[in-house]
Amino acid sequence: MPDAAQRSRDRTAPMIEFKGTRVRFGSLDAIGPVSLSVKRGEFLAVIGPSGCGKSTLLNLVAGTLKPAGGEVLYRGAPVDGVNREIGYITQKNHCLPWRTVEGNIRLPLEFRGYPNGEIASRVTSVLQQVGLAGFEKSYPRQLSGGMLQRVSIARTLAYAPDTYLMDEPFGSLDAQLRLRMHEEIMRLWHQTGSTFVFVTHDLHEAITLADRVVVISRRPGRIKLVVDIDLPRPRDVIDLQSDPRFGAYFKQLWDALDVH
Ligand SMILES: Nc1ncnc2c1ncn2[C@@H]1O[C@H](COP(=O)(O)OP(=O)(O)O)[C@@H](O)[C@H]1O
Ligand SMILES: [Mg+2]
Repeated sequence: MPDAAQRSRDRTAPMIEFKGTRVRFGSLDAIGPVSLSVKRGEFLAVIGPSGCGKSTLLNLVAGTLKPAGGEVLYRGAPVDGVNREIGYITQKNHCLPWRTVEGNIRLPLEFRGYPNGEIASRVTSVLQQVGLAGFEKSYPRQLSGGMLQRVSIARTLAYAPDTYLMDEPFGSLDAQLRLRMHEEIMRLWHQTGSTFVFVTHDLHEAITLADRVVVISRRPGRIKLVVDIDLPRPRDVIDLQSDPRFGAYFKQLWDALDVH
């Protein structure tokens, strides 16, 4: 039986489109032109050297930055102002230290004007989903790095965005924990059917998670290569690494990255 993600991927309408998009910061040509379409329900990974404009691409979708040329469309309409349909998760977890775990997760729901009863039931449900039930009253300083990232994910999950923008979210976690988080992200993606754009400089992470990996060139950031990751799902994060196809994708992407 097709799960939510499968149904969602079958829809062909793009969720995000960059059309000849360019970004400038003063006299610096940061990006472009970039043309790329992200399908509804797709898991797209973006890799590229530091400073090539990966975060900038996400900011365009989030609506916190305007292109200097070309267009950025979300659901077929130009992004105009802050995009409320996306959830943004970065390496820094942005938890408010004076709010409990529960208080932090409530915050975006309060902004969006959800009634109190609805907020309470969503908070309970997402804490269970990310394995943090029982930590409602804890403060951020009492939690480990992995738990804090789960709070970030729960906070986003609570308002069920159509699209998750993730900017190197696990960059500060140790290798074992990162594998755990990969399993959790894949489960989340299957359950929600949401679109994911996941920036990373970890090739393993990109190949493990994504349907497609986009390689961005050095500045000005342009699309250098797009690779379909044709590995069966559900994927096992450990078994995958000994799959010969995994090694072939790694080599292809590594060569395109042009790391000196
Ligand atoms: N607000 C800004 N003002 C000026 N320059 C910026 C700004 N944001 C990013 N840049 C520059 O644009 C380039 C792309 O940045 P960024 O998207 O953060 O790269 P990446 O995430 O790939 O490391 C970098 O050279 C960076 O210094
Ligand atoms: Mg960045």
